[in-house]
Amino acid sequence: MIDEKSKRLASTGFNTRAVHAGRNPDPNGSVVPPIYQTSTFAFDTVAEGADRATRISPAFYTRWSNPTTKMAEERVASLEGAAAALLTASGMSAITKAVMTAVAAGDHVVCADGVYSGTYELFSKSLPRFGVDATFVEPTDPENFARALRPNTKLIYVETPANPVMKITDLAAVSRVARRAGVLTIADNTFASPYNTRPLEHGIDVVVHSATKFLGGHHHVVLGAVAASEEWIRRCWDQMRIYGGAPDPFASWLLLSGVQTLGLRVERVNATTQRVAAFLAGHPRVERVFYPGLPDHPGHDVARRQMRGFGGMLAFEAHGGIAGGARVVERMKIMKLAVSLGGICSLATHAASTTHLHVAREERLRQGITDGLIRVSIGIEDADDLIADLDAALD
Ligand SMILES: Cc1ncc(COP(=O)(O)O)c(C=O)c1O
Repeated sequence: MIDEKSKRLASTGFNTRAVHAGRNPDPNGSVVPPIYQTSTFAFDTVAEGADRATRISPAFYTRWSNPTTKMAEERVASLEGAAAALLTASGMSAITKAVMTAVAAGDHVVCADGVYSGTYELFSKSLPRFGVDATFVEPTDPENFARALRPNTKLIYVETPANPVMKITDLAAVSRVARRAGVLTIADNTFASPYNTRPLEHGIDVVVHSATKFLGGHHHVVLGAVAASEEWIRRCWDQMRIYGGAPDPFASWLLLSGVQTLGLRVERVNATTQRVAAFLAGHPRVERVFYPGLPDHPGHDVARRQMRGFGGMLAFEAHGGIAGGARVVERMKIMKLAVSLGGICSLATHAASTTHLHVAREERLRQGITDGLIRVSIGIEDADDLIADLDAALD
């Protein structure tokens, strides 16, 4: 039921919805919503139980849904401009549920190169075992998606910006290709966050998130989200009911809390990252900087069209090969050497010496992960301090 409050909120700004969207299930009117930390709910009659069992009832069993989770789902849907959303136990859980909703044995997927490694493994290793094949294409030319289509293609999957060099995919152009062919589109919006990009406004059908990142925003929760039409979310929910991967209510509550400042955080991070990118671009010990906000980035023009700001993710190539890159990340004092992204604390990773240490060099280079490449997720610290930290680490 769409109540008066939800109707009025629908036309408010992003930050207002980040604080107020989602119906608080507490009858006492608590300003901070309660955590329904319960696995199950009691009913008065068997008929009531039977009714709740057949729908996404927030008061049946927490793998079905939960009042705290439902409120967080309504908020995420509002921020993405979607009719509905589903929260899941992690980003990979959201991605697998969404993809399993979209494809069946015998189907084909066209996937952008450079998607998150777990997603790449899903399409390249896991789904072929169930009769679903994928073709990977260079995503900066939308025609590459058109050329890879087959009569049995059911899904185009993209992620923008994407590792390792912040490639930008033109969402409107790719969704035109998909619509012409009657193919569904899914976009991983983790790096941009709905503050910077809302893929549904560009014609994409389904959005997925690692809500662990910008949506949660404080490195304190692992969660995923899918946002789409009511009908599609209902089908996706069916997958979650069967395969599991529902979020814990406390995690949903942490998301409700963290997401309130999404707009404030991302606006600041957009500005800081632009400054850090400009600093690195002028540094003598940096070979190259990859940030869509720099005019020489190949995706700059598309990013200007589809992003409110250029985001908090950048990569740069430090001098000195593998040892040089490793030295820089180890010498950072404010930025932490850690995987993940999108939180209040700046994090840096040097793939060649950590996550990709055991990947053959040729394969790593094929993926664009050069020896000295460092990826940085900018947090909300003061820009001057982050720049001084990088300057000292590069010295
Ligand atoms: C772009 C992207 N999508 C999905 C995931 C997977 O999310 P999670 O770790 O929450 O399962 C990640 C994780 O780093 C990611 O960076």
